[in-house]
Amino acid sequence: MITQVLSPSEGAICEAAKLIFEGELVGFPTETVYGLGANALDAKAVQKIFDAKGRPGDNPLIVHISHIQHLAPLVRERPSAAAKALIDAYWPGPMTLIFPKSTLVPAAVTAGLDTVAVRMPSHPIARRLIEVSALPIAAPSANRSGRPSPTTAKHVLEDMSGRIPLILDGGPCQVGLESTVIDVTGCVPRVLRPGGITPEMIARVAGNVEVDGSVMRPLKEGETPRSPGMKYRHYAPKGNLTIVQGSPDAVAREICRLYDEAKSPALILALQPNLCRYGGRKTISLGMNAEGMAHNLFDALRKADEMGAEVIFSEGLDADGLGLAVMNRLGRAAAFHIVHAS
Ligand code: TXA
Ligand code: MG
Repeated sequence: MITQVLSPSEGAICEAAKLIFEGELVGFPTETVYGLGANALDAKAVQKIFDAKGRPGDNPLIVHISHIQHLAPLVRERPSAAAKALIDAYWPGPMTLIFPKSTLVPAAVTAGLDTVAVRMPSHPIARRLIEVSALPIAAPSANRSGRPSPTTAKHVLEDMSGRIPLILDGGPCQVGLESTVIDVTGCVPRVLRPGGITPEMIARVAGNVEVDGSVMRPLKEGETPRSPGMKYRHYAPKGNLTIVQGSPDAVAREICRLYDEAKSPALILALQPNLCRYGGRKTISLGMNAEGMAHNLFDALRKADEMGAEVIFSEGLDADGLGLAVMNRLGRAAAFHIVHAS
């Protein structure tokens, strides 16, 4: 199969919608990361997603909708007051909500779970694709399983070339990290995966929030996470990644020391304002701040692989606000190997 990459004209979106309708897969941009879409109501089409990604069958998918009236057929109960408040505040946007599922949603989508993850993206191309398809679209991130999520069409092509017929190229994704996944089946909204909608933003509109304990630590032996995706090794570069946290001075001193001691090709991931602290050492810029780091992180991890880095040192962030999502992804990529510099 040859993978076409098209700029997202109305004609290209119609071609993509036709492929979705026919049970094929399409790579498409969203404001978070690129998705690998299929008709969510067609179990055979959904199975193709698992095959193309090499994704374990017990990891459920997110169903994408373009209008709020398309939620009711997918869920078994009316959204709770907290869920409604979140929907009003943050849809369309980088937020996925978990609801009890209706019988319309095939078990292939939810990996047999009794709940379904639903998201209404804000990206105009994603929304137009869902509208023209006139179907809910099941879409995980469009990477091969275990690779960093794709934030450009080039990343999707790297992972999916020859496996899918079409990628819509909408340029780089704005947020750069996957959506916040929130379980709204209980009384208090529970963050299963942090993202662009922060716990602070959730508490502000829903009155309360819990963050699942597995967000900032590795899973324990035999532990079953609430969000099955959490148990898989994610976003891991080929090189051995260490995160260094502390004051900018202490972090730079410790990273320089570790870099100079390294016996194999090393690389530093650092915020732009700190690059000058690393002299002539090999660096990749993560941008100006937490937003920049969210936007650049996955591309930096892919570049680290391309550069053949065997040891990688990254500056960390405080795990609050958007920093929680950044540190969750960076932490997983580093198998939570975090050094505190003083
Ligand atoms: O931003 C995003 O969410 C992107 C774009 C394409 O929308 N999609 C994405 O999908 O990141 P994926 O498949 O890479 O991640 C979905 C996450 C996984 O961790 C999965 O386990 C979790 O959502 N999930 C899906 N359905 C669930 C459910 N019913 N209960 C708990 N977790 C669920
Ligand atoms: Mg993913």
